[in-house]
Amino acid sequence: MFTTRSPETELDPIAEHPRITVLGVGYLGATHAVCMAALGFEVLGVDVDQQKIQELSSGRVPFFEPGLQEKLSEVLRTGRLAFTTDLDAAVRFGDVHFICVGTPQSIDSDAADLTFVERAFEALASRARRKALLVGKSTVPIGTAERLTAMVNTRSPIGEALELAWNPEFLREGFAVDDTLHPDRLVFGVASGWAERQLRAVYAPMLRRGTPLVVADLATAELVKVAANSFLATKISYINAMAEVCEATGADVDRLAEALSHDERIGGKFLKPGLGFGGGCLPKDLRAFAHRAEELGVGRAVAFLHEIDDINTRRRFRFVDLVRDLAGGDLHGARVAALGAAFKPNSDDVRDAPALDVARMLALEGADVVVYDPEANENAHRTYPDLDYAGSLAEAVTKADVVALLTEWDEFGRADPNELGALVNARRIVDGRHALDADAYREAGWIFRALGQPTEPVGMITREAQAVN
Ligand code: UGA
Repeated sequence: MFTTRSPETELDPIAEHPRITVLGVGYLGATHAVCMAALGFEVLGVDVDQQKIQELSSGRVPFFEPGLQEKLSEVLRTGRLAFTTDLDAAVRFGDVHFICVGTPQSIDSDAADLTFVERAFEALASRARRKALLVGKSTVPIGTAERLTAMVNTRSPIGEALELAWNPEFLREGFAVDDTLHPDRLVFGVASGWAERQLRAVYAPMLRRGTPLVVADLATAELVKVAANSFLATKISYINAMAEVCEATGADVDRLAEALSHDERIGGKFLKPGLGFGGGCLPKDLRAFAHRAEELGVGRAVAFLHEIDDINTRRRFRFVDLVRDLAGGDLHGARVAALGAAFKPNSDDVRDAPALDVARMLALEGADVVVYDPEANENAHRTYPDLDYAGSLAEAVTKADVVALLTEWDEFGRADPNELGALVNARRIVDGRHALDADAYREAGWIFRALGQPTEPVGMITREAQAVN
């Protein structure tokens, strides 16, 4: 189904249309493979997981990502995208190989576990027979690309003809397709003009549209990614630290965030208070960055990241305090409806999810927890099989003593407080994501609590004052 490379282009595959392989077809890799094929490239997705490859080949995305399923079906029909477990075939096929395998947190430390990345580069290098570019997309500690370059040069039968570049990815789960097709910037970490030209060919459709491009050395490209994620995490923890101060003073963190957001230098994005950040990226990137900085002797420069992490974790404990208070001071035997398990809405990802962690903490204190997430129940059940899971919002809240809103799915925001009120045992709710209409709940007779908000509603007073102004 794919075109064949002519001998000339095999010698120097700088083509208008480089052929692309994507190693590791998880959230990042599958989206990248599908989107590159949608842009007109011939793409081969590779993974060691036979089942994942089978599912993707038959047109099924093995995780929840809005819009990806449709795009996959669309590009499979063009014949430009295929999936395989055959690495030799991938090496023969590709001019540019994107490495998108995971870099999870190590089991015994804060460092990133680079086993999968190292394996992927080594496997490609040892099989290479013609010039090609290996492009790392996985988030890695600074200095990894330089180390891998040395390894690749040694392992590759064609030596330095196999080049390495780093091209960090900034897509958000839930918006992965759009972020990949319309990135806000591109970053190329390259060691040669040839590598840059290859990447320019791959991203030509975006560059033609005027997408900003930063060309940098390998270390800077690696650093951009962890610096960006650490900054985002810092912003979230900043507003959550303010929520802690609000709790001690009776101030309202939502009004505070709103007021801050009008300052263009601060901005309102990533200033949403609540249960804080989770997922497969922000928490582990923050920790791996601090760990790497310490190794490099600049630990003090980013020592504040430990505090950012701590602020984030403290929110979960504080949330449990609020639920316990509403349950009358003791969670034993209290039925708690845990609304949400995913680390954020529009995702079924439960990696380091604040929601699921809180559900677990509540259960550990003796609460009878019933979890409902519109998409993540299955993944959550796999992680914590001991919790109870409901098939619907109504089922989850039925007879609940306290309702805990943990992930801000639209379905929860749209729910009618009166209808929910008719199902619960007691109208008590804690909004961990500042996603609900507090006044509507209070008017419907609910006791309503949120992190960083005063116990008594002051919203009416403020709005009256606003009206006068
Ligand atoms: C994050 C970055 O936003 C992406 O740019 C990056 O590419 C990605 O990590 C990655 O490294 O691959 P993602 O993990 O999909 O993306 O999720 P975010 O939308 O950043 O949300 C992270 C967490 O922060 C979620 O748990 C969310 O609920 C929380 N959050 C976000 C807040 O608590 N408050 C906010 O104001 C914003």
